[in-house]
Amino acid sequence: MTLATQPMPGLVDAYGRVAEDLRVSLTDRCNLRCSYCMPADGLAWLPGRTILSDAEVVRLVGVAVGRLGVRKLRLTGGEPLLRPGLAGIIRSVRELRTRDAEPPEVALTTNGIGLDRQLEGLVAAGLGRVNVSLDSLDPARYARLARRDRLPEVLRGLEAAAASGLRPVKVNTVVMRDANEQDVVPLAEFCLERGYELRFIEQMPLGPRHGWDRTAMVSAAEVLGRLQEHYRLVPLPGRGAAPSEDWQVLGDDGAVRGRIGVIASVTRPFCRACDRTRLTADGQVRTCLFSQTETDLRTPLREGASDEELAELWLGAHRGKGPGHGIGTAGFRQPERTMSSIGG
Ligand code: 5AD
Ligand code: SF4
Repeated sequence: MTLATQPMPGLVDAYGRVAEDLRVSLTDRCNLRCSYCMPADGLAWLPGRTILSDAEVVRLVGVAVGRLGVRKLRLTGGEPLLRPGLAGIIRSVRELRTRDAEPPEVALTTNGIGLDRQLEGLVAAGLGRVNVSLDSLDPARYARLARRDRLPEVLRGLEAAAASGLRPVKVNTVVMRDANEQDVVPLAEFCLERGYELRFIEQMPLGPRHGWDRTAMVSAAEVLGRLQEHYRLVPLPGRGAAPSEDWQVLGDDGAVRGRIGVIASVTRPFCRACDRTRLTADGQVRTCLFSQTETDLRTPLREGASDEELAELWLGAHRGKGPGHGIGTAGFRQPERTMSSIGG
């Protein structure tokens, strides 16, 4: 093996955490308007000239993978299936090599709409895993929550994910008070029957301003309580850097029916084990969903910065990464961007 340059340190921060998992938002646009994520009348989209081109995305991912120790990649949005060059981006980033000389693992977080039409091409390009967001199985409640009546398309996308052979198929659900609380058990049953791994995510203050209320939030404990009325849950050990706490679900006869997780971002934050770094569609590094500052890579990139200079800027961002999101503390401020333009 020949190393042309001295390897740089990984994306280590002042608390000793090392970010090896890069979330890339490929667009801030979405074909849904989930109420925990976007205002009903949408948002002003990022101006087109600020959106990184496919080649620019691949270049920055290459810096993260080749120089900064990133091994895992998750492509998000908005809705990443709305990005025309998605398959090409996947193909190109799969040609990169991590420090272990492996291609990075590539996963996709999607609302599922159009996945049935696109998935074959994405798998051929090297996509390794897919997470589909699904908040209700009831068309009316789905339409109210997502503000778009598109449940059948989502379900077709999910079926395509199952048929593709990508494993595990994961489903993400945000439970909202008075919106989809009654969907917890039906969603669990639906996923157990099909072998999907369902994860319930606590709602975070990343949607429309003033749209979040700690006291109204449905906690992971509450979700688990609902599940335990119907299932026997056995905790699975050690979540490591994974945000989800997983449970094995046993049927009445004691047989294992599957696995369900809760992501208690608010009530049991996992910031101390955080291994994430994020790149927005307009080329800003965010070290946390809740960062108040961003590090601009787009401008230096377009002004001709070298890979090494870009890597230095990225490292600098992580040196300043805060200890945690601080939700519920006096100094907490919701970030300007909503989830749709940060990336899940
Ligand atoms: N709180 C928690 N999860 C959220 N998501 C979007 N907005 C929020 C929020 N405010 C989830 C979506 C999707 C993933 C991208 O993030 O449900 O699964
Ligand atoms: Fe779109 Fe995802 Fe936001 Fe829903 S949560 S509006 S699917 S970006």
